[in-house]
Amino acid sequence: MGVSSRMLCLYNLPVRGLQMQYGGLSAGNKAAGRSKVTGRVQSESAQKAQRAACFPGLGFFYKANKEVYNFVEQKITIEEGIDSYSGMIWPAALALCHYLDTHRERVNFVDKAVLEIGAGTGLVSVVAVLLGAWVTATDLPGALSNLRVNLSRNTRGRCRHTPQVEALPWGHDLESTYPTSVYHYDYVLAADVVYHHDFLDQLLATMKHFCRPGTTVIWANKVRFESDLTFLENFKKAFHTQLLAEDGDMKIFMQWDLAMMTK
Ligand SMILES: C[S@@+](CC[C@H](N)C(=O)[O-])C[C@H]1O[C@@H](n2cnc3c(N)ncnc32)[C@H](O)[C@@H]1O
Repeated sequence: MGVSSRMLCLYNLPVRGLQMQYGGLSAGNKAAGRSKVTGRVQSESAQKAQRAACFPGLGFFYKANKEVYNFVEQKITIEEGIDSYSGMIWPAALALCHYLDTHRERVNFVDKAVLEIGAGTGLVSVVAVLLGAWVTATDLPGALSNLRVNLSRNTRGRCRHTPQVEALPWGHDLESTYPTSVYHYDYVLAADVVYHHDFLDQLLATMKHFCRPGTTVIWANKVRFESDLTFLENFKKAFHTQLLAEDGDMKIFMQWDLAMMTK
């Protein structure tokens, strides 16, 4: 299915609406604010935390913002970080968690090997773990400590498989760090990894690297920029693609290796 220009209307889902729709518990306490740079909608407390973190020498102390969600019948507490990309929960993460939680038969994660790329705070990975998957959550090296804290705090004592956290810079030396002969995943997850950045080619290369026969990629993204549509077109050329769900500009796609379709 194609994406029309009508869908390019920007950032139309405030945090409050999103959280209530997709499992958030703390929506009632929030006042939403928007970053002009990223379009990312932040809670007032997240903005305060970020401001404080910017001025440690002036007597401000960074206090992480915590968000509480309810997925897979579990309370999930996510500590956000100071990075405005990896440290925040983005809208597609909430949409994907909601989808996975409400489609457990269609996407059965029990005992499946799942890789998340650009995992950020780790909310999607936590939900995958709680759904029974063996999860490897990945991101840039600087994002891993917060990711590790969130994975560990929310899965300890309530998972079938202990999750792993690894560095995975997109497109970087993939065959030597993640050789295809060794690493095989049933699912690759990605939420809001397509936005205005310079690594879209590397991102697609990473998706292709991990999407082997038998692998399903589930990619959720809010369509924001013209370049997002270009990525989507390239993505459709590389994979057999199905639109699983959409809610305005929010899309969730499932894709398979094109070679699988010829078998
Ligand atoms: C917009 S955030 C989305 C985070 C999370 N998936 C979510 O939806 O809440 C994009 C994520 O991609 C990661 N990222 C950006 N560029 C990357 C790169 N070149 N290699 C690996 N990860 C990258 C960021 O660190 C960040 O965690």
